[in-house]
Amino acid sequence: MSPLPADEAAVPTVLHTSDLPGLKLLHRGKVRDVYELPGRRLLMVATDRLSAFDVVLPDPIPGKGEMLCQISNFWFRRTAHLMPNHLTGEDVAAVLPAGVDPARYVRRSVVTKRLRPVPVEAIARGYLIGTGWKDYQRTGAVCGIKLPPGLQMAERLPEPIFTPSTKAAVGEHDQNVAFDDVVRLIGAELAEQLRSATLAIYEFAAAHALERGILIADTKLEFGLDDNGVLHVMDEMLTPDSSRFWPADQYRVGISPPSYDKQFVRDYLETLDWDKTAPGPRLPAGVIEGTRRKYAEALERLAGIVLD
Ligand SMILES: Nc1ncnc2c1ncn2[C@@H]1O[C@H](COP(=O)(O)OP(=O)(O)OP(=O)(O)O)[C@@H](O)[C@H]1O
Ligand SMILES: [Mg+2]
Repeated sequence: MSPLPADEAAVPTVLHTSDLPGLKLLHRGKVRDVYELPGRRLLMVATDRLSAFDVVLPDPIPGKGEMLCQISNFWFRRTAHLMPNHLTGEDVAAVLPAGVDPARYVRRSVVTKRLRPVPVEAIARGYLIGTGWKDYQRTGAVCGIKLPPGLQMAERLPEPIFTPSTKAAVGEHDQNVAFDDVVRLIGAELAEQLRSATLAIYEFAAAHALERGILIADTKLEFGLDDNGVLHVMDEMLTPDSSRFWPADQYRVGISPPSYDKQFVRDYLETLDWDKTAPGPRLPAGVIEGTRRKYAEALERLAGIVLD
């Protein structure tokens, strides 16, 4: 894949908090700001905010939102044959209020269909880590799926599994649930569709990433329904914020592999005497730059887009 032309790969912008006067702000998440557009559409802006241990840190990571947005867009394009997605393909500059500098927004924003969210975090796991590993150690199963005995931390699963969770209220942790619970929540037909789309997307992406030296240990997808009840994949897709990416050459069974995600900043934060409640601490320049590089590396290796 060829790098972006020079004008598109321009110096990254820095944006901690978006400001779009005249557009209604529907939601300010930890990372994204979501605005209402006419015609049942949304403008989703990926900012440079970084959260760790569920606290948004005061320092932005320059260009992180642009990189996240471009990684997501890459995957939405590449998986469109597997599942419709929320992107409308419309020009971001055309929907920005007059007076806003488009350069600050066009590479970090998308215009999307406004969908009715399916209230399930659709997670696929190919490896045993995180809450999957914790549940397995306790019960021998993950989300009610019985696994072979004797698996080790980070071990590859015999086949990828669908391990849904339900989104917790603010301040609480998401809850892993069994497939039957999802059936009770949204009905058997939609639950089946969710599972097969999640696994198909995961398997496709994992094969692509493996060719580029990255293991996708697990990933979380979100889905929504349009006015005709058609299922779409929405939100973000296969970014370091929603997935565990491991460098394949450093993978070892039995240890938690170094990752492309926030391990770098978490490791730094663990050296501090911080109680992990807001406000979060300032980050040294070296940690900001190191984190930025991790995202740039993911973008380059996965999507072939070179920034550094
Ligand atoms: N096409 C869409 N239609 C409707 N809602 C959407 C669509 N795409 C994403 N969303 C929702 O928009 C919100 C995006 O917010 P964001 O992910 O930034 O924060 P969050 O989910 O509150 O927190 P977190 O940082 O933990 O992800 C989510 O609630 C997501 O479900
Ligand atoms: Mg989210």
